[in-house]
Amino acid sequence: MKKIGVLTAGGDCPGLNVVLRGIMKTALNNGIEVVGFRDGYKGLLEGDVMNLNRENTSGLIHRGGTILGASNKTNTFAIPEKQEDGSIIYVDKSDECVERMKDMGLDCLIVIGGDGSLKSARDYGLKGINVIGVPKTIDNDIVGTDITFGFNSAVTTATEAIDKLHTTAASHDRVLILEVMGRDSGFIALESGVAGGADVILIPEIPYDIEKVVEKINTRRSRGRNFSIVVVAEGAKPIGGDVFVKKIVADSPDQIRLGGVGNQVAEEIEKRTGMETRATVLGYMQRGGSPTAYDRVLSTLYGSTAVELAMQGKFNVMVAMKDNKLTTVDLDEVAGKDTAIGAPSSNRKGVALDSDLLQTARRIGIGFGDDQ
Ligand code: F6P
Repeated sequence: MKKIGVLTAGGDCPGLNVVLRGIMKTALNNGIEVVGFRDGYKGLLEGDVMNLNRENTSGLIHRGGTILGASNKTNTFAIPEKQEDGSIIYVDKSDECVERMKDMGLDCLIVIGGDGSLKSARDYGLKGINVIGVPKTIDNDIVGTDITFGFNSAVTTATEAIDKLHTTAASHDRVLILEVMGRDSGFIALESGVAGGADVILIPEIPYDIEKVVEKINTRRSRGRNFSIVVVAEGAKPIGGDVFVKKIVADSPDQIRLGGVGNQVAEEIEKRTGMETRATVLGYMQRGGSPTAYDRVLSTLYGSTAVELAMQGKFNVMVAMKDNKLTTVDLDEVAGKDTAIGAPSSNRKGVALDSDLLQTARRIGIGFGDDQ
């Protein structure tokens, strides 16, 4: 193992720089050269590279974002090309990328990314490239690992936000809604909701009945609790209804961007209870800033282990955490799952309805907008 390529693909998330640091330190200690591609797969496609060294990867332990840049728009297997008549055709440019990696003399490519990026990684593996994946996303929705790096930081940010909403909700006797990210998985909402002491948590895995949400708020009111906190995952939807789509990003492999459910839920609650109800959308705060101590440790484990696997010649796998043990899972098992919005739930990693945390949340009286 002489030369490793690395890219940070998809949306950014706290811990990316720490993974790069873990890769770099391990590589340096083993005489391995590391080259980064800028802006994820875009850099691979365009040959935009950055040599990583001791200098440019030092001081990264607490830095959010990624020094390599990230993009969730480039799928090298289907690059949109506008035709003269205005129509778009999708061109597979992966062979060009394979040639580039061979010309550069790369012995391995480490892809730090989410479900879509890891699918491309799997496909480069099928084309003969030695690939290793590192599971990145605040959403924690990657199949094959119990935990992705970035998730804990996002939950921590959301929890801090709930703490702040709590004091103002109590001062004003209001219902305050916090809309959090997570695409079609409810992990961020569930964990931050429990950690922040939410009264109601709405997650994509449990379609909600607004009347049940109102019931919960009214019950609290009858006990003299004149405020309530509702955490809503951006992918939450009413029973029989659909997710709230904020926009369609045409040039992105995964085009749907969710958003808007928080305001909708706020309006409905205000209408039904007469209580002043306001929504806050936490948005990109969840992806920015310093990683938590937990994420720094996890990212270091993942980054360093990816290089260790490369040295052992163990390719086409993703580094993973299962039952608190560092392990690997075949990229094929990860990429075979379509986690896109609307995919069958059997193909997704979401909150299990029998999970300990969900059951506990119910036991302590948190409402989920359903009958239970
Ligand atoms: O997957 C991470 C994530 O932050 C989701 O939680 C969110 O739905 C999406 O990315 C937002 O994507 P974009 O950065 O394109 O708005």
